[in-house]
Amino acid sequence: MLITFEGIDGSGKSTQIALLKESLVESGKKVKVFREPGGTGISELIRGMLLNPEIKIDPVTELLLFSSARSQLIAEKIKPLLEQNAVVILDRFYDSTTAYQGYGRKSIPLDQVHQINEVASHGLEPDITFYLRLSLEESAKRTIHMQKDRMEQAGIEFFERVIQGFDTLAEQKKRFVVIDGSDTTEKVHQQIVDKLKGF
Ligand code: TYD
Repeated sequence: MLITFEGIDGSGKSTQIALLKESLVESGKKVKVFREPGGTGISELIRGMLLNPEIKIDPVTELLLFSSARSQLIAEKIKPLLEQNAVVILDRFYDSTTAYQGYGRKSIPLDQVHQINEVASHGLEPDITFYLRLSLEESAKRTIHMQKDRMEQAGIEFFERVIQGFDTLAEQKKRFVVIDGSDTTEKVHQQIVDKLKGF
C-alpha cells in the first residue's frame, strides 16, 4: 500500500508521518518511510542541488530534477517494497510537482506535468493521499524561525498558487483526503487512522 502526504511547509507532515508509522508498526505492519526528493543515493544528491539557495536552476530543469529523483526512488526502493506487501509512506510525491512546478512555477502546461509525473513514477499511483491543508498565514507563523531553502525563498504569490494547486487536485482526485492542518496533532492523527480503517 502506498500512502502519500502533501501540504505546504509547516503543515505537520513529518509529525503525522512519524505518528502513523508508529501506529502501523504496532499493528504488525512492515512500514517504510521516504521523503521526496530523496531516499536513494542519486535522489539525495539531486535533493542537495534542488534545495541549495546558491544554485540557479531553470524551471524546466527543476521539474525534471524532481522527476529524476522520484524515478530512481520508485525503481530502486518503492516498487520492490510494494511487491513485498510493505506499507510505504511518502513525504510528498508527484502531487507536489503538480502544485509547485505546475501551478507555482507555471514552468510547462499542466497536461505535460501530468505526463512527466506518470513517466517518473513508473505508472504508480498512491492508494491514498493525505493533504494537510494550511493557510499561508499559518504556515508563515509556524516556519518563521526556520532557515529557508531554495524552494522556500519563492514569493507569496508562488505559494498562493501552490495551495490553489493542491486544492484543485483535492477536488479532482478521489484518493485525496483533506485534513485541516491547523487542528491539534492528536486530532489530525485520529482522522488519518480512522480513514485508513477503511482499507
Ligand atoms: P523539504 O525540506 O523536504 O520540505 P518539506 O519538509 O516541506 O517537505 O523540501 C522539499 C521542498 O521541495 C519543498 O519546498 C517542496 C519542494 N518540492 C517541489 O517543489 N516539487 C516536488 O516535486 C517535491 C517532491 C518537492
